[in-house]
Amino acid sequence: MGSVTFSQIETKYRNRFHLSEQQSQRAREIFPNGVTHDARHHEPFPVCVSGADGCYKTTLEGHRLIDYWMGHGSLLLGHGHPAVVDAVQKQLLKGTHYSASHELEAEWGQLVIEMTPSAEKVRFTSSGTEATLMALRIARIATGRSRVLKLAGHFHGWHDQLIPAADGTPADVNWQQPGIPESVHDDLIVVPPNEIEGVERAIAKHKPACVILEPTGGRWGTVPIRGEYLQQLSDLTKRTGVLLVFDEVITGFRVSPGGAQQEYGVTPDLTTLAKILAGGLPGGCLAGRADLLEYLEFDHPSGLKMKHPGTYNGNPLSAAAGITALREIQKGNPCEIANESARYLREQLNLMFSNKGVNWVAYGDFSLTKILPNYSGELSDNDEFLPYQNEHRRIDQPIPRELTRAFRSATLLNGVDLMGWGAIMSAVHTKDVLDLSVIGISESVDLLRQENLIS
Ligand SMILES: Cc1ncc(COP(=O)(O)O)c(C=O)c1O
Repeated sequence: MGSVTFSQIETKYRNRFHLSEQQSQRAREIFPNGVTHDARHHEPFPVCVSGADGCYKTTLEGHRLIDYWMGHGSLLLGHGHPAVVDAVQKQLLKGTHYSASHELEAEWGQLVIEMTPSAEKVRFTSSGTEATLMALRIARIATGRSRVLKLAGHFHGWHDQLIPAADGTPADVNWQQPGIPESVHDDLIVVPPNEIEGVERAIAKHKPACVILEPTGGRWGTVPIRGEYLQQLSDLTKRTGVLLVFDEVITGFRVSPGGAQQEYGVTPDLTTLAKILAGGLPGGCLAGRADLLEYLEFDHPSGLKMKHPGTYNGNPLSAAAGITALREIQKGNPCEIANESARYLREQLNLMFSNKGVNWVAYGDFSLTKILPNYSGELSDNDEFLPYQNEHRRIDQPIPRELTRAFRSATLLNGVDLMGWGAIMSAVHTKDVLDLSVIGISESVDLLRQENLIS
């Protein structure tokens, strides 16, 4: 085969996804960049999907893609899980919105309490973004302090209070975001991940209301966090009277039925949940210590009630899907299956990279996998391995945009829909599917090599 230029990948991509291109042209007239979520943006255009089942998505052209987005992490049980579909269909006929209390919301909340160690009480929201917003508001009311401490590179949704420093690598510079008032930036303290001394100094200096973090590492484990650091944070926050918030929007009901907090045996004061919580439909919640959630109650003895309306809070359709998904997770072993599948994928990818002599590495924890191209650190065949000894400034480096774009087009051409440089696993990705994925990624690496984007 002669040399392939990037435009040849692009030409192939345009040919294979010609209907998606037409749809994208229409969408660009309607939406900025033609997309409805930043992460779905792709040039020359994203694929357009017409259906999904199990671990596959089907494009407008009828091409089946192995899906590693899985509903942005919400579909641990796969697309169209029969019990979830059945529960939603039944509920659809009984009403989609009661504007009233209903039995399903209580059953759903009860399951959150049974499964999540920190959950003594629960309040539903419509999304993870709203849940983290509520966590901060409650922490501020309870402590009477306004500052919030977050870890560089951790994503907690897009509201003003926490979108700064959510990415913008290297993770601790240029973290301010346009459109956000200076006063909000002033109240936000950002420290590097995995350095407990930095948190200790920041707490002493700034006396924040809370520390919030993704407990397995920012942006689902780009710079992994493990149990020892969580325990140190828990001890430190308890000692200093600062509230600890685990954002388990991705890790909740995924890492284990009780999330990262159950897995590592570290119980935060507050927990934010979404995604798997609502079985693939919209929904989120704040869960945690009863005395903290009680600031939502009317006539709170302090006189400090937190206002909380929200049209879709505890929506019956989301409740029906959520209850069914959580019961499947509670009684079965989907978390374990997905964790093991991800471990296998990482192992096979690293074998393939090594056989090809390409300097890439796959790493990650539980069912969340990341790929680091152009890696120049040590390697190991232990799945616990941390690239660059977990030095966050080295792992969380910007990846050249041209490479990211070419890799995405190449993997889609080869039938694999990765989520950026990562893969979110479900319990329905079988070994055959994983082996096919490795072949697809291997062929994508070949394409990149042929056009001299990698050595
Ligand atoms: C850790 C984390 N927190 C919060 C959010 C925001 O959730 P939502 O997109 O439901 O607003 C996300 C979304 O990806 C997330 O990954």
